[in-house]
This record gives sequence, structure tokens and C-alpha cells, in this order.
Amino acid sequence: MFKVNVTLMKKCRINFWTIIIFSVYTFGCNSTEEIDPIIEDPKDQNDDKEEEVVAIPLKELFKDYFPIGAAITPQHADLATIHGEALVKHFNSVTAENVMKPESLQRNKGVYTWEGADRIVQFAKNNNLQVRGHTLTWHSQSPDWMFYDENGELLSREVASAQLEEHITTVMSRYKGDVYAWDVVNEAMSDWDPNGEIIYREDSPWYKIFGPSYIDSAFVFAHRADPEAKLFYNDYNSIFSWKRNKIYDLVKRLKDNNIPIDGVGLQGHWMIETSEQDIRTTLDLFRGLGVEIQITELDLPVYLSSNEEGSMVYTETFSQRQKQTYSMIFQVLLDYKDVITGVTFWGIGDDASWLDQPGRKAFPFLLDENLQPKPAYFEVQKLLN
Ligand code: G3I
Repeated sequence: MFKVNVTLMKKCRINFWTIIIFSVYTFGCNSTEEIDPIIEDPKDQNDDKEEEVVAIPLKELFKDYFPIGAAITPQHADLATIHGEALVKHFNSVTAENVMKPESLQRNKGVYTWEGADRIVQFAKNNNLQVRGHTLTWHSQSPDWMFYDENGELLSREVASAQLEEHITTVMSRYKGDVYAWDVVNEAMSDWDPNGEIIYREDSPWYKIFGPSYIDSAFVFAHRADPEAKLFYNDYNSIFSWKRNKIYDLVKRLKDNNIPIDGVGLQGHWMIETSEQDIRTTLDLFRGLGVEIQITELDLPVYLSSNEEGSMVYTETFSQRQKQTYSMIFQVLLDYKDVITGVTFWGIGDDASWLDQPGRKAFPFLLDENLQPKPAYFEVQKLLN
């Protein structure tokens, strides 16, 4: 009998079909010899094990922990696409990657464009997905009329404030009961500065008009518009000491002043070498404030640095790196299930990411370019077995 040791074949990189063709030529097309693969005891299998394990949908894996989401485009909100299929299979939450931003919803003053956002919300309702709203107040992807008059001068506080309130009220009212949480203010804190003295993003037109008080106002307007919605402050680089302390001070100030804020969104644009301690310290810090924490834009590009040569192919090295770091990340998130109320990937699968560049794909997700589970997915699944 012709026996095939599958594991050995893989280790020796022998293609299964090479063996089939070889056996057909050797024993003849009408050979009655069976190919009888030796399936090893699962206990003896190491790296090959994941290929024989059935993937459990992400939303099932995390059902006792937190909703698991994806950022999507309106085109993804269609069951006839592989994206729509993957969404209902793996996720129970969605976020609009772009179409709920101020520039998308109200590019021209008083003229709202709801089509894309409506499509996502309707798809979510039809398929039992929660919706996180992103975002109401941001310096970027917001139309100029929100900040400047026809002469290009900054608006007065009164005018800018009234416009912001109108925008927040209109958008949140439309999706009341359908969008359970909103990133009310996005990326308002200054990024790295050598002395850590610049607290707010001072080049934001919001800041130029109001100083920091626009943040307070936005939360008050949001709570007024939909008292049931969960209200978040959302930012990136939020696990680094030089930024998380600024965010902490902001959230504490808001809470101390009874400004209605429910939680903080840590975007989670992390790196292969992201430090576990940085994530844990940040989660401890915000847990101490008594706010909800959501990971709102998780992705993990495969490169060690921006200098590393780009690739259009997902290599074994990339796979090993992601297995290790994704496993670390999710172990930490599971450990903090008492305060983490949602984890959202900033995309669905490796076919498309805002991080992709010509000649350099980021491959940042647990699902591959065909939206199938990657080895890193199975590594994460192991944590829950
Ligand atoms: O829609 C236009 C299209 O009409 C035009 O032909 C095309 C040409 O470039 O551009 C399209 O707009 C792009 C848009 O994405 C939709 O694809 C913009 O150029 C592009 O700048 C925009 O990028 C988005 C980016 O936010 C803008 O800052 C990314 O998709 C989106 O993933 C990214 O998301 C942000 C979060 O909102 C906040 N946190 C960081 C995160 C990543 O940057």
C-alpha cells in the first residue's frame, strides 16, 4: 500500500498533487491501490495543526467577551459579496470607515448625503449587527464651511458651535436606536512633542476657534441628541505614555465636570513590536477612571518598520510575526474583558486596508485576501479553547 505522511510532505515541501501524479504514473491509471494518508495523532502536530482545525467564527469565539466589529464601506453591505458574507459570519458590529464622517454626510452646508450611511445601517439591522458611529467632530475629513466663512476667516464661536450642534443633532437623530455608540470627538490631542507640553492638537480649526471647550460642547450636544447612545473619545497612539496621559487628563476633566462621556476608544493601529506592557498599562489607567474601553480601529501591519522592504506576498515570516503579536494582543484583551466593551478591526480582510501602498501590502488582519482565516486567526482561536 502506498502511504503518504502528510506532515512529512509539508515539512519537506512536497506538493500533494506531485505525489498523486507520481503514483498514477507509477501504478497505472486503473490502479486499485488506495492512497491512505497517515493522519497523525493531533497531539503530535505542531505548526500543521491549524490547517486541520475548523475555524470558529470570530463573533462566536468572543461571545462571552465583547462584540467584534469591522470598518466597512457601503459596497461591503451586500450579502451577495464575499465581504457581506464574511461580515455576517464573523462579526456582530460594524463601523463606517468613511461615510459617516462630516465631509461625507454634510459636504455642503445643509445638504446631507445619507445614502452610504443608510445602506450600512440597514444592512446591520437586517443582519443583527451593532453599529458604532464614526465620527462627529474631527479636524480632518470635515468640510471647510464648518470652520471658515466665505472670506476664509475662522468662524466665530457662536456660529461654529451652532453648526456643530446642528450636525451632531441631525446625524444622531437619524440613527437613534440604530447606532449604539459614537466617536463624538476624534483625535483632539496633540501627538508626540519633545517636552510633552502641547496638550491639544492646536492646529485643529476646532481648537483655533474654541480652545479645548469644543470637546465638552460636542459631548453635551451628543448626549442631548440621543441620551441612550454611548459616547466615546477616540484617538491613536493612545498606548504610549506621552499620549495616554494627555487623554487620561482629558477624560478625567470631562468626568469631573459631569460632561457625559461613556468611554475611550483606543484606535489600535498597532505594530508587530507593540509592547504588551504599554497596552496593559493603558488599560489599567482607563479602568481606573471607570470608563468603558473599546479598541476601535485594530490593525497590525506585517512590517517591523516603515524602512522594511515592501511585499505583495504574504510570507511565512509575516505569518509568524502576526501569530505571535495577535496572540499577545488578544490574550491581553481577554484579560480585560471587564472593561473592554468592543473590539473593531479597521477593515475586514487583507484584500483592502488604508495601510496598503503600491508594492507594499500591509496584510493587517486575521482574514486573508479571500477573507479566509489566516494562521494568526487560529493562533487567536487557541486562546479560547
Ligand atoms: O472618495 C474619494 C474618491 O472619490 C477619490 O476618487 C479617491 C482618490 O484618492 O479618494 C477617495 O477618498 C479617500 C477616502 O479615504 C475613501 O477611500 C481619501 O482620498 C482618503 O484620504 C480616505 O482615507 C481615509 C482616511 O481615514 C482619511 O483620513 C481612510 O480610508 C480611512 O481608513 C481613514 O480612517 C482613519 C479614521 O477615520 C481615524 N483614525 C485613523 C484612520 C486611518 O487613517
